[in-house]
Order: sequence, then C-alpha cells, then structure tokens
Amino acid sequence: MKIKVKNSGIVKLTVRKDRRRGDLFVAESMKNIPFPIKRVYSVNNLKDSSVVRGQHAHKKTKQVIFCANGSFKLSLDDGKRKQEILLDTHAFGIILGPRLWHAMSGFSKDCVIVVFASEHYNEKDYIRSYEDFLKIVKKHEQRK
Ligand code: TYD
Repeated sequence: MKIKVKNSGIVKLTVRKDRRRGDLFVAESMKNIPFPIKRVYSVNNLKDSSVVRGQHAHKKTKQVIFCANGSFKLSLDDGKRKQEILLDTHAFGIILGPRLWHAMSGFSKDCVIVVFASEHYNEKDYIRSYEDFLKIVKKHEQRK
C-alpha cells in the first residue's frame, strides 16, 4: 500500500506473535510514533455500520490511527488528493498530520479504533467545516 495524500504516512508497529498466548503490538513514542504522545483515545461499540466518524482536520495536532480489532474504512483528503484505506490489521497505523481531512466509516461490529495524538484535546485545533479546511490548505500553500 502506498500513501498518496500529503501529511500522512504508514507507521509499523513492533509485533510479537504467539499462537498460544496472543499477539503483542508495541507502539513507542519517537520510535515508531513520530512525535511525543500526549493523548491516547479509543473508540469501540460501533454497532451501527452506517455511522461516519471524524469528518474534520486539525490545525496542529498530529495523530496516528490504528485498528486494534475488526476493520474500518479510513478516508483521507489533503485538499487536492483523496485516498481510501481499509484498516483491518493492528500491525500498522496511518499518520493523520495537520490539514488532513479524515473520516472513518464501514465499521465492523467488533471494530476497535486506537489513536495516539501529539496534543491534548483542544476544540480550537479542529477544522470541522470542509469549506474552511479548503481555505486553510490554500492559505498554507501560498505561504510556502
Ligand atoms: P468527535 O470529534 O466527534 O469524535 P470523532 O472524531 O471520532 O468522530 O468527538 C466526540 C466528542 O468527544 C466531542 O464532543 C469532543 C469530545 N472529545 C474529547 O473530549 N476528547 C478527545 O480527546 C476527543 C477525541 C473528543
């Protein structure tokens, strides 16, 4: 799999497989997670597969999203390119960098999402309007 959108990437976890004792996955700050982790959150109980979560971007916060169990579809949009990724393994996660619009959908009933974030929760860091998102991306491009 190749990431086509900007401000994203793949993070591989260290895996210790054990057929009898279960599989161990390890994520370490500044080793495979490319930032100091300030917050970890998880989503489960995704009973309604028609639900769409996310649908926002961040101004500053960097995150890495994992599927710890089951599967879901991750939709990414950097303002120019779009990409859909089926996450159905714990073994790798996807970087959600700043100014990357993301949505999660198509959840399996047993789906568990785990996210590592570079910042504490701050509603002011969210871009929740797609129109504003496109404006911010454009402004950022002009600054370069
Ligand atoms: P929301 O942004 O809708 O979640 P998602 O991006 O997964 O669809 O967040 C749901 C609610 O939880 C919203 O009121 C904000 C709050 N929240 C926190 O208080 N702390 C957090 O770390 C996160 C991610 C959300």
